[in-house]
Amino acid sequence: MIDSGDVVKLYRQHVNSGMARLAGLVGMATETRASGSLVYDENDRAYLDCGGYGVFIAGHCHPTIVSAVRAQLERHPLGTRSMLSRELASAASTLAAVAPGELRYVCFANSGAEASEIGVKIARLNGKSTLISMHGGFHGKTLGALSISGRPRYRIPFEPLLPGVEHVAFGSAELVDAAVARHGDACCVIVEPVQGEAGVIIPPHGYLRDVQAICRRHGAMLMLDEIQTGLGRLGTWWGADREGITPDVMLVGKGLSGGCVPVAAAVVTPRAFEALNRDPLLHTSTFAGSPLATSAARAAIEVIRDEDLVGRAESIGARLLGSIRTIIQESCPDLVVGVRGMGLLIGIEFAADHIAGDFILELIQLRIVVSTSLNAPRVVRFTPPAVLSEKEIDWLLGAIREAAVTIRSRHAPASRTGIERFRHSMLCVHNGRPA
Ligand SMILES: Cc1ncc(COP(=O)(O)O)c(C=O)c1O
Repeated sequence: MIDSGDVVKLYRQHVNSGMARLAGLVGMATETRASGSLVYDENDRAYLDCGGYGVFIAGHCHPTIVSAVRAQLERHPLGTRSMLSRELASAASTLAAVAPGELRYVCFANSGAEASEIGVKIARLNGKSTLISMHGGFHGKTLGALSISGRPRYRIPFEPLLPGVEHVAFGSAELVDAAVARHGDACCVIVEPVQGEAGVIIPPHGYLRDVQAICRRHGAMLMLDEIQTGLGRLGTWWGADREGITPDVMLVGKGLSGGCVPVAAAVVTPRAFEALNRDPLLHTSTFAGSPLATSAARAAIEVIRDEDLVGRAESIGARLLGSIRTIIQESCPDLVVGVRGMGLLIGIEFAADHIAGDFILELIQLRIVVSTSLNAPRVVRFTPPAVLSEKEIDWLLGAIREAAVTIRSRHAPASRTGIERFRHSMLCVHNGRPA
């Protein structure tokens, strides 16, 4: 087995030298194993995983999911695609059974970005030549998904992207109305129920219902990206459930893997799926919907349902949000713009990117893993699993308090030491800003 110094060296030589540089600067550990809410480094030190970009709603290596995957791995991991798949059929019906309303046809994918691509292709198949998506939105980094994502920093280097994409401000039904009115039934609106990568931006209540009504009025299509918000993350099965809506296309990913095998999906109404029903070869993929991935998906959905992870996400999330607000208010209110969240998707927005970066590093010292927000580096995101124990909740809240107190003392403007100035400039470089 190679040691962690060699891992950095191999990253430098064969993976990505920029990533290796960053890992060296912050002393990034190497991840070796995981179980439940914990992930372990090369020295077998345990970290509480409250990050993972929202994948691990059921924790790591859930025994029911692992055993379904292991049995499938030994029996038949990938299919020939020349015959039907029992696992695919069963996972599709299990997912459709928990999806809102009329969403019935399931097209599996290998990643969230690929699910977004399928959504865009379905929009095109339905004559929707204009895609209306949101500033700050995130749908993945393949070219089609990037085209509808909303942060110029990631889009500009790859232009020209897809034509016919318009971005509007998230949270304003009036702006959606104006954009849809210009294109009528030739457009598709793409929106997240809560914007995760934009820094946990929660739209006003009623927004999704209004957007759905606007789409219906004009004959436009509605695509809801639930890749981050779905499967219990918000304390409901779907963000759509919070306002009782049913989109034409719903994108699912992250937790659908049960944290075991990459899998995502587009779940579609019969009407929107018609063209793919007519010609099933219009969208295909060698690996998507494999027996391995779909056995994981089915097991993951059953675990979420049978262990009431949705209810747990709601109650643990409400408790965490209240406690984090109190801690921030008591420890470093002048460094924080706001604390917001829904279920187990919680964000702390700091006054500046480098303070958020520093807070993340402090939490790592206290063995808490969290996520940055790809489209808003000022926001530190907590997406813990719904299997957190009481002891783990105490660990998390204690660490947040300690980290908040530390950064408060450090970011009183006159108190930066040389090493802190170095950390600050390094984080600026990482975030693409002048130091
Ligand atoms: C809302 C949303 N859509 C799409 C994606 C892309 O998923 P993936 O990284 O699996 O391609 C993400 C990933 O963070 C996401 O949060």
